[in-house]
Amino acid sequence: MAVMTLAIANQKGGVGKTTTAINLAAALAQKELKTLLVDLDPQGNATLSFVDPNPLKLSVYDLLLQPDIGVPDVVQSTSLPDLDVLPARISLAKAEVKLVGEIDSHFRLKDKLDPYRGLYEYIVIDTPPTLGVLTVNALVAATHLLVPIQSSYFALEGTDDLLETYQKIRSRPNPDLQFLGVVITLHDRRTVLAKDIKKQIRQVFGDKVFKTTISKSVRLEESPAYRQSIFTFAPSSSGAIEYYSLSEEVIGRV
Ligand SMILES: Nc1ncnc2c1ncn2[C@@H]1O[C@H](COP(=O)(O)OP(=O)(O)OP(=O)(O)O)[C@@H](O)[C@H]1O
Ligand SMILES: [Mg+2]
Repeated sequence: MAVMTLAIANQKGGVGKTTTAINLAAALAQKELKTLLVDLDPQGNATLSFVDPNPLKLSVYDLLLQPDIGVPDVVQSTSLPDLDVLPARISLAKAEVKLVGEIDSHFRLKDKLDPYRGLYEYIVIDTPPTLGVLTVNALVAATHLLVPIQSSYFALEGTDDLLETYQKIRSRPNPDLQFLGVVITLHDRRTVLAKDIKKQIRQVFGDKVFKTTISKSVRLEESPAYRQSIFTFAPSSSGAIEYYSLSEEVIGRV
């Protein structure tokens, strides 16, 4: 069984979910831990960092919608030997509508992953900026939730809704789901505001906040354009050091 299936979620857009999913998955794979990155965001940005989606016949959309399609039909290997990806395409946007009203709509990902969990030590799921059926699928399939929070004004806005969804998932479809932690992202060490916000986040989430904070860094912003994780694109940058250190904390929290 996988040690951990980690859903990376926050319905607020642009807080670093995908950047965290990509670089955490890459960090784990570089430690030779067999890792599966699941892209549940129709924008497909996590996919783009590791696979060329154009020639793909099948994607996560087909996995969720077609009963006879399984993980082996959709999974793609990457340049990292220990990293596989379940890729997303824009078609995934249709899944929200198609799954509404299906009795098992929230269990689709879990049911498809279950037979293959033994092949991976870590499964990392990137989610879209909504609390819709795709994010719920991630939370039902996951063992742990990791929430990136951007170090900015209104950082905590919306976290109540996210925590409410987390509690609902725990009370019914997935009682074992655990809150792994909060990672502060896009942090600008130079500003007083950023320091204040960090303090606020710590007041709300206490020791759930990871010690590692991800700084704002041009390298992290650039790396997806070059189809790379930060570890190959800029291995000695602050982003690489911080995401490596986050991966150590994640492993240590299981
Ligand atoms: N630490 C960082 N430093 C600089 N830029 C960053 C950092 N983290 C993320 N970014 C950039 O900020 C933007 C938003 O990040 P990202 O796509 O990871 O957020 P997201 O939460 O997945 O967004 P969405 O909600 O749209 O899926 C991207 O352009 C990304 O490259
Ligand atoms: Mg994203």
